[in-house]
Order: sequence, then structure tokens, then C-alpha cells
Amino acid sequence: MTIEFRGVTKRYEGGAVAVDDMSLTVPDGSMTVFVGPSGCGKTTSLRMVNRMVEPTDGEVLLDGRNVRDIDPAELRRGIGYVIQHAGLFPHRTVLGNIATVPLLSGWSRRAARRRAGELLDTVGLPAELGSRYPAQLSGGQQQRVGVARALAADPPVLLMDEPFSAVDPVVREGLQDELIDLQRRLGKTIVFVTHDIDEAVRLGDRVAVMRVGGRLAQYGTPSEVLRHPVDDFVAGFVGKDRGYRGLSFLSADGLEPEETATVAIGSSPGTSDRWRLAVDDDHRPRGWLEPGSTVDGALTEADLVAGGSLYRRGTSLRGALDAALSSPASLGVVVDDAGAVVGVVTSRHVLDVIERHPESVGAT
Ligand SMILES: Nc1ncnc2c1ncn2[C@@H]1O[C@H](COP(=O)(O)OP(=O)(O)OP(=O)(O)O)[C@@H](O)[C@H]1O
Ligand SMILES: [Mg+2]
Repeated sequence: MTIEFRGVTKRYEGGAVAVDDMSLTVPDGSMTVFVGPSGCGKTTSLRMVNRMVEPTDGEVLLDGRNVRDIDPAELRRGIGYVIQHAGLFPHRTVLGNIATVPLLSGWSRRAARRRAGELLDTVGLPAELGSRYPAQLSGGQQQRVGVARALAADPPVLLMDEPFSAVDPVVREGLQDELIDLQRRLGKTIVFVTHDIDEAVRLGDRVAVMRVGGRLAQYGTPSEVLRHPVDDFVAGFVGKDRGYRGLSFLSADGLEPEETATVAIGSSPGTSDRWRLAVDDDHRPRGWLEPGSTVDGALTEADLVAGGSLYRRGTSLRGALDAALSSPASLGVVVDDAGAVVGVVTSRHVLDVIERHPESVGAT
């Protein structure tokens, strides 16, 4: 479903302008992220889609239909809404929470619970959590339940207001990956609000950068916003690391891994004046054996220097460069989808590919 903001303004009573003449279109089946500093009007913009806030001027259209002409209750049943801290009902079980909207929509109890059970699986939670209460879950699990609840009636549109900002960074990355995966599978139209530019460029097909006063500063793909900020405000907001972040969007075509010497855990490695990569039975990397080191008998993990980050073949150049820079051998380990070693890349090698790239970050 396409969402269009057409000249939308919101002026709260007695207050300043929260959203000022905003126009943008969120294409069907894509994810747009509203990002900007506190108070810039992100939440207000989001809530004008499901009529929790009514615009003072302009209109919001869903597939060309003005939301003002849709009954609010009906409208909201077709729009999943996820907020920070998940906003779960504390006295309902996990399954009860997820089944809320289907029950309101007139599903039978049994159908609603079956649907809730399926959704637990969709968001990566084990079935046995279904009978717990929200307070018996971790923050990350609660957010997953919040997402499941929003998906329960299979709405074409999802609105997400800082859903992951209260969970720790590691859990947050996991939730982001799952949302990207979910989006690929389910093809919802999603508007996601955050004040974190990293989260915005990671998740968004498009990013809308807003500034205080409720003005849309720039709307484009993450790569456009990072590479060509329209003004100093956007440049400042996307930050000083934007060149490095921009690498996330350069494909690794042309990056050919080189062979490297490997030794198997459990084998007798002899000596070498080069770094050698230790691998397990499935050819997965376990660490590095230092040049000149000697091992009595069979090689064990205790003989190894821990490796750096791994680079999964075919993903962005940012990961490739990071793998090379974080490796004790200065050789970034490239793995396939199963995690087996394909070869190695040096940082020089990655930089050569970047510099040859037609869309190189430095080019204008
Ligand atoms: N109900 C309200 N009445 C009056 N002013 C409001 C109301 N809700 C929000 N505002 C004001 O509108 C502006 C935009 O608020 P909004 O909540 O949309 O910002 P935000 O970008 O979501 O901020 P944050 O990142 O802090 O959540 C702010 O100046 C806020 O004080
Ligand atoms: Mg907000």
C-alpha cells in the first residue's frame, strides 16, 4: 500500500508547528525511515497516518484514499503499530497480546490463538513463551512480541516508533536484521521512526531526514543521503563517518578473495614463516597461527591468536574492509553462506576495488 503525505502541516493548539508542509511518498512494499533530532515531528508525522493525530492542513493518502474518509477503528485494524517498550498489555499472556487485533476483528478464539502461535515463530520466539506474561520476558523478547502483535491481522502497513531504542546495541542489531528479513518475506509498507542515523541507513529503502520545526530536510535512499547531503544540517546529522558508512552500499563485485595457507585443528602443523589460518572439520575459521610458532603434537585452539571479523562473500565492502583491518594477520577472512573459508582479502585489495568503483564514496 502506498502512503502519501501531501502538504501536511500539524500545529498543536497553543503550540508551535510540529510538522510543516511535509510532502513525500512511501512506495508500496518499501521501508521508509523518519530520522531527526528530538522534537522534529517524527512521532506526529507517523500518527497522522493512523489518525491518532489529525493534520491541520494537507492530507495523508493510503493508495490514493484520504485517511480522513476512513473510519479510525477500521483504519487502525489495517495498520500495525509498534512503539518503544512494546506497549504490551501486562495482564494478558504473550499469546493473548498477539491475538488482540484478530479477536477485535471478529476471528474465533481458536483461529486467533493459532495465528498468534504462528507469529511467535515468525518473529523468532519459541512456542513455550506463549503462556508467559510480558514482565517475564527480556526487553528484546517483548519487542518481538510487539512486532508479532502488530502483524497479527496481516495489515499491509506497519508504523514503528523507535521500537528498538530501549534494547541494548547487540540485541538491537539482531532485531534490525530480523526486521529486514521479515520485510523481505512479507513485503509490508513500513514507516519506521528513529533518531539514530545508523539504524536509519541500515533499515531504510529510503530515509527522510527531518529538522526541528517539522521540516523535511531530505528524502532519498541511504546512499544518496550519505553521499550527497543537501545542506549543512543533513551533512552534520549524518555525521563525520559518513564516508565509511557509505561503504555499506557499495557492492563487492570485483573483490576476488585470494587463497591463503590453512591448517586443520587436530593436525600437526609443522612450522612456517607466514600467518596460517586454522580451520575446523567444516573448513570454518577458528583463529590464526602466528608465523614461526611451533606446536607440540596436534594443533588446538589454545595455540591460536583470535581472528578478526569475518566477511561473508558478496555482502558490502564495509564488511570486507573491517575484516581486513581487524585481522591479526592483516588478512580479512572471507566465508561463504555456510561459514566455510573461501579465501582472504587485504585492506589494499579492498581499497583498490573502492577506488575503481563507479559510485565511489568520494566521487561527486
Ligand atoms: N499533544 C501535543 N501538544 C502540543 N505539542 C505537542 C504535542 N505532541 C507533540 N508536541 C510538540 O510537537 C513537536 C514534535 O513532537 P514529536 O513528538 O512529533 O517529535 P519527535 O520527533 O517524535 O521527538 P522525539 O524524538 O523526542 O520522540 C515537539 O515540539 C513537541 O513538543
Ligand atoms: Mg517521538
